[in-house]
Amino acid sequence: MKILVLNGPNLNLLGEREPNIYGGETLKSINDEINAAGREMGYEMAFFQSNSEGGLIDRLHEARLDCAGVILNAGAYTHYSYALRDAISAVKIPVVEVHLSNVNSRDEFRKNSVIAPVCVGSIAGFGKYSYMLGLYALDNKLGGSNE
Ligand code: DQA
Repeated sequence: MKILVLNGPNLNLLGEREPNIYGGETLKSINDEINAAGREMGYEMAFFQSNSEGGLIDRLHEARLDCAGVILNAGAYTHYSYALRDAISAVKIPVVEVHLSNVNSRDEFRKNSVIAPVCVGSIAGFGKYSYMLGLYALDNKLGGSNE
């Protein structure tokens, strides 16, 4: 079973982008850790980042063909992309919404997620561990039947 870790706009700049909010680690370093944990659990792992809405939607469409689930940090698209929300509904595989920062304790506009209602759940505020918790949550949703 394959799990896709999908990252949206500006997350390629992790490590240099507002490290006080998002931490000092690069996306590659976070992905390496998630990859190791996912493989340990018996999953095949795939990783993709795009700064464009269309890039994320295209990758989600592909995922419906060969992935059992998705861990998604949609970045700012979280807050206003109905196109991404529709794509999540369309693909029918479980998608877990994750955020490094606690979006509920920041700007007002970050408190609203238009994708949350079509995701199986949301995790925010635990830095890179949000992805790890997303992996455990997805494993639970998938019944842990990855062997
Ligand atoms: C983010 C939170 C979003 O509000 C923001 O636009 C991001 C990152 C997070 O991981 O905390 O780009 O998704």
